[in-house]
Amino acid sequence: MIAFENVSVSFDATEALSCVNLQVAEGVLCALVGPSGSGKSTLMKLVNRLVEPSAGRVLVRGADVAGQDPARLRRSIGYVMQSTGLFPHRTVAANIGTVPRLLGWDSSRIATRVADLLELVQLDPDLAQRLPGALSGGQAQRVGLARALAADPDILLMDEPFGAVDPITRRDLRAELRRIHAGTGKTILLVTHDPEEALELASQVVVLRDGAVVADGAPAALVAEDAPEFARTLLGGGQPGLRRLSLLPAEVARDACPAPADAPALPEGATLADALSRMAETGRDVLALGKGSLRLEAVLARGR
Ligand SMILES: Nc1ncnc2c1ncn2[C@@H]1O[C@H](COP(=O)(O)OP(=O)(O)OP(=O)(O)O)[C@@H](O)[C@H]1O
Ligand SMILES: [Mg+2]
Repeated sequence: MIAFENVSVSFDATEALSCVNLQVAEGVLCALVGPSGSGKSTLMKLVNRLVEPSAGRVLVRGADVAGQDPARLRRSIGYVMQSTGLFPHRTVAANIGTVPRLLGWDSSRIATRVADLLELVQLDPDLAQRLPGALSGGQAQRVGLARALAADPDILLMDEPFGAVDPITRRDLRAELRRIHAGTGKTILLVTHDPEEALELASQVVVLRDGAVVADGAPAALVAEDAPEFARTLLGGGQPGLRRLSLLPAEVARDACPAPADAPALPEGATLADALSRMAETGRDVLALGKGSLRLEAVLARGR
């Protein structure tokens, strides 16, 4: 769906990206992580031609973006900017309706869509007629998200979309994004500084450092013992073993033998971290999992 082939980007003396090769398949939510200045926003902006490569090619839906009209390309891709980028002299409703208006939707269809989106991102309908300057940072970010979703694009670029919201709203918006992704199969590139967010939401995580991709893989693989040290430290925080267990379903370590009758049970959908917590809580080294069992040694063997 999105491919970067030997892409480099130079701004005057700075090489922001050097020879990046990366593929993001259709329907994948791919998280881009890395220190400040590592090239995450630059990589994202190549997709909708806000940045041009100085070498290499960027393919979107199988076609080189260099041959595509930038305005049309941008209308077909939802983009949540790092700094929200709302139009300051347009109301919230007009901001959200930007792309539908450019696509020629009639005003009643736009109004309905705006109302639906305000509800989706949990904003009061009364905010529709406000100007962005009169919103809190978190409200403005939610308007930015609604604007990106307005014309139901198949590709979404999200540059730290939840940076300015409190932890509870952040959790809600994260759940909302997971729901949107699961329900629509959109291809999503998400820049985040929050390792937990990256590991929880994404099925592909890309770690950037000094303009180069240093790791690219499934969340659990990037906190495994054999993952590149930089990725493991960045994503695993101080507890890579526990982080890894939290990404693996308990089923992967299940033993078909039944557990003793008095063993505590682990609910369906639990992770190996949940299992470890349950064992710590109950002082038992075996749990019942469905018709089988889960043993402490089997859990520990998966933490590496
Ligand atoms: N328009 C520009 N002109 C000159 N240099 C730029 C420009 N945009 C980005 N850079 C430089 O390119 C490098 C990568 O920037 P980029 O914005 O991609 O980083 P980032 O990983 O998104 O960082 P952050 O986490 O702080 O947002 C930085 O050194 C930055 O200063
Ligand atoms: Mg950035």
